[in-house]
Amino acid sequence: MERTFLMVKPDGVQRGLIGRIMSRFEDKGFKLVAGKFVQVTVEQAKRHYAEHDGKPFFDDLVSFITSGPVFAMVWEGEDIITLSRMLIGKTNVKEALPGTIRGDFAAITPHNLIHGSDSPESAARELRNFFEEDELVAYDKTIAVWT
Ligand code: TYD
Ligand code: MG
Repeated sequence: MERTFLMVKPDGVQRGLIGRIMSRFEDKGFKLVAGKFVQVTVEQAKRHYAEHDGKPFFDDLVSFITSGPVFAMVWEGEDIITLSRMLIGKTNVKEALPGTIRGDFAAITPHNLIHGSDSPESAARELRNFFEEDELVAYDKTIAVWT
């Protein structure tokens, strides 16, 4: 079963969208395995966005993600990395379709509400940057989405 790292960014927290964003993943039938409300440090933000280091938007991105608390989560499900990116919508809000989180709620590109890992490798790396192994909770999710 695949895991991904999702994070409601400071704009999503400020706008009171944590619950509605989480509902999208609950509605899809995915399983929440960890979640916490955290103030990201600059070092942690730079590690999280290491792939973008050197790009023109990097410094603004680090400032933005450390500007206030985020809600960090780990979710589990079959093909969750691909499927959660579909639920999130395109990075550029002008391309994010209605029905996606960004398409429905975001209007300015860097303030696109939520982060989602883009590969199994980044999911593993991002998850370790925010969670200790004992913070991931193992349990049976007995009511599946298709029942
Ligand atoms: P990226 O990983 O490409 O997007 P995503 O969040 O969809 O995985 O970029 C990380 C964040 O950086 C993105 O959510 C918004 C910001 N960003 C910009 O501000 N300008 C840009 O040109 C890009 C590509 C990203
Ligand atoms: Mg990305």
